[in-house]
Amino acid sequence: MSRQDVSDELLTLLGAGHETTASTLGWAFERLRRHPAIVAKLVDEVDEGGSEYRQATILELQRNRTVIDFAGRHVAAAPHFELGEWRIPHGYDIVVGLADLHNNPEFFPNPERFDPSRFLGNRPPAFAWVPFGGGTRRCIGAAFANTEMDVVLRTVLRHFTVETDDAPDEKIHFRGIAYTPKDGGLITLHRRPAPPA
Ligand code: HEM
Repeated sequence: MSRQDVSDELLTLLGAGHETTASTLGWAFERLRRHPAIVAKLVDEVDEGGSEYRQATILELQRNRTVIDFAGRHVAAAPHFELGEWRIPHGYDIVVGLADLHNNPEFFPNPERFDPSRFLGNRPPAFAWVPFGGGTRRCIGAAFANTEMDVVLRTVLRHFTVETDDAPDEKIHFRGIAYTPKDGGLITLHRRPAPPA
């Protein structure tokens, strides 16, 4: 492989793939620590072998704590690209605020509330829930990231008890690629007793 190829692969795997998924998982534990009722539901579900509420939790995490806050497009069309009532000239850049869309109360009532049940039994709205961007350049790793987050959450919930308390929310911190919990999503875990054989 050329040095350029190695650099491109690293950018994909570390920058696009690892940093984003790890940051979202950091928020998962930051949110769970502060939401005992949600932890209780997740634990009941994991013990019964289910995954619906955990999937809704992942969707809500990505809405409520969006780690990549914008996606950009360069206008290649000439002489302009029509976006609603706007005409954007050739050569301009368009920046879409993903986190802003996730805070739109028209689609997500009480958007500041962390509430996985808003996604129970229904798919997220395609043009309002966009943590992976959208269109032809939508994140190529979306399904992989979802699986990784699901496996990590399932494993932790099965084997550990997440201690909950009323600590204030962690502040949002920009690490250069993604937005993370400022204190790293600090939590205390206790190993759960092994289930009876
Ligand atoms: C929670 C985890 C992730 C988040 C939030 C995320 C978010 C995003 C966003 C917002 C975009 C831009 C999409 C657009 O412009 O419409 C993107 C693109 C991309 N992502 Fe992800 N991503 C995640 C995980 C991953 C993983 C696991 C991989 C690969 C292993 C990956 C690889 C890529 C690549 C290669 C692109 C560029 C796609 C293109 O331009 O065609 N991402 N991602």
